[in-house]
Amino acid sequence: MTNNHNTKKTRARYNRIAPVYDLMEILPERRFVPWRQQLWAQVPPGQVLEVGVGTGKNFPFHPDSITVTGIDLSDGMLARARKKARLMDKTLDLRQMDAQALDFAADTFDAAVATFVFCSIPDPLVALDELARVVKPGGKIFLLDHVRIDRPVIGPVMDAVNPLTVRLTGANINRRTVENVRQSSLLIESVTDLGPLDVVKLIVADTPA
Ligand SMILES: C[S@@+](CC[C@H](N)C(=O)[O-])C[C@H]1O[C@@H](n2cnc3c(N)ncnc32)[C@H](O)[C@@H]1O
Repeated sequence: MTNNHNTKKTRARYNRIAPVYDLMEILPERRFVPWRQQLWAQVPPGQVLEVGVGTGKNFPFHPDSITVTGIDLSDGMLARARKKARLMDKTLDLRQMDAQALDFAADTFDAAVATFVFCSIPDPLVALDELARVVKPGGKIFLLDHVRIDRPVIGPVMDAVNPLTVRLTGANINRRTVENVRQSSLLIESVTDLGPLDVVKLIVADTPA
């Protein structure tokens, strides 16, 4: 587990938010559900790593054809994910782990998924390269996340408000996640624009074959 200052702060924030996370997300979640379905419908059969499982909001959408290992930095979020899995009678391997230092051998998974996680990982480029390492060559990475809106006024406003959203919710609202994936060792296959002003992206990337 990486224990640098920013990672410790991120863990502490999500442990604090965990008891109210599902409540906070009730309204936006209505919009997210079809996007989650759109993502999981594309995940190929096999061993799948879900990064930042949070409270387990994706569990209802996991296809039967996959075996999921879920990780999260926050033990508070994971405790809720474990409860949700029990209530759903769902078998999956849930572990506390940092996406920036994955405790898996190279080429372990057929695919990896992260929804609304790369906005909060302190060093997203390190985590993207970790995904490239643990997913088999030619395997797929699916990311669903909100990003900075690169338009006059709105973009700079997002930059200005960002320190507050990070402190309150753990999420950076001005992350350039598509550009981060381009900078990583992953290869972008598609980017689908979603939501108002295309603020949400569904990114599908491949690990180099
Ligand atoms: C906004 S929540 C999203 C949770 C869930 N994926 C969803 O779609 O509702 C972000 C999650 O990412 C986790 N997270 C943040 N940084 C992480 C890291 N470095 N490694 C693993 N999980 C991390 C947080 O603890 C939190 O549970």
